[in-house]
Amino acid sequence: MLTAASLGRAERGAAELHLLRVPRLQSREAGLERLLSADERARAGRFRRDADRLAFVAARAVLRRLLGARVGVDPRELVFDYNVHGKPSLPIAPGLRFNLSHTEGAVAIALSQGIDVGVDIERVLPERASLDGASLCFADSERAALARCPAARRHELFFALWTLKEAYLKARGEGLSLPLDGFAFELASDGAAIRFQSSLGDEPAHWRFHRGLTPSGHAWALALRADHDVALEVSEA
Ligand SMILES: CC(C)(COP(=O)(O)OP(=O)(O)OC[C@H]1O[C@@H](n2cnc3c(N)ncnc32)[C@H](O)[C@@H]1OP(=O)(O)O)[C@@H](O)C(=O)NCCC(=O)NCCS
Repeated sequence: MLTAASLGRAERGAAELHLLRVPRLQSREAGLERLLSADERARAGRFRRDADRLAFVAARAVLRRLLGARVGVDPRELVFDYNVHGKPSLPIAPGLRFNLSHTEGAVAIALSQGIDVGVDIERVLPERASLDGASLCFADSERAALARCPAARRHELFFALWTLKEAYLKARGEGLSLPLDGFAFELASDGAAIRFQSSLGDEPAHWRFHRGLTPSGHAWALALRADHDVALEVSEA
C-alpha cells in the first residue's frame, strides 16, 4: 500500500485533466504499445479502425505513465482491477482515482486523490447531433433545450450534454445500469448544473462539473464527486 507522501501532486486534493491529441503523440513517440500489458495489446489488435486502435493505445500508454510516475512503479508493471461494470482502478493505490476516455484523434485522462472522477471526450460531429438520436440518451428537459436551440448551434449543446452525462456515469462507475433520463444537465457559463430524479438517490451538492472544447474540436466533460470546489489543473498536449 502506498502512502500519501508518495502520490505527488494528486495528494493535495486537486484534480488533473490531461487532454492529448493522438496524431501529435504518435508523431512524437514511437513504441507506445510497448508500455501496454499483454491483454491490452490483444485488445488493441481487435479494433477494426486504425483511429480507434491508436486512441486506445495512446490512452492506456499515457495512463500507465502518469500512474507509474505517481506510485513509483514501472508503467508496464501496473496491474489494474475492474469493477463489475468495467471501471478500472489501481489496487496498490486505492486512493489514487483516475478515469480515461478515448475517441478518434483525442484522449482525456483525469486523476485525483480520494475523489471519484469520470471523464468523457467526444469528437464533435454535427451530423450525429440529431433530435432523433437525442430521444435515446437525454432527459425531457435536455431534449426540450435541444429543440429550443438554434439548429446551427445544436451540435455544441448536444455534445456538451452528452459528455457531461457520460462523465457522471463514469464517475459513479455503474455504466448504463443507471437510467440516462434519471438525471438532467443544464449548462452554466462555468460548467453545468445537474438535477436528479429521486430514484437515482443522489444530490447535486455532492458533485462538481467542468466542461470544455479543445482546439481540435473535441468536447470534454469532467465529473468529480465532491461537495466542495476542487482545483482543476488542465494540461493540453
Ligand atoms: C463503457 C462506458 C463507461 C463508456 O464508454 P465510451 O464512451 O464508449 O468510451 P470512453 O472512451 O469514454 O471510455 C472508455 C474507458 O472508460 C473506462 N471504463 C470502462 N467501464 C467504465 C465504467 N463502468 N465506469 C467508468 N469508466 C469505465 C475504461 O478505462 C475505458 O477505457 P479502455 O477502453 O481503455 O478500457 C459506458 O458509459 C458506455 O457504454 N457508454 C455508451 C455510450 C452511450 O450510449 N452514451 C449515451 C449518452 S450519455
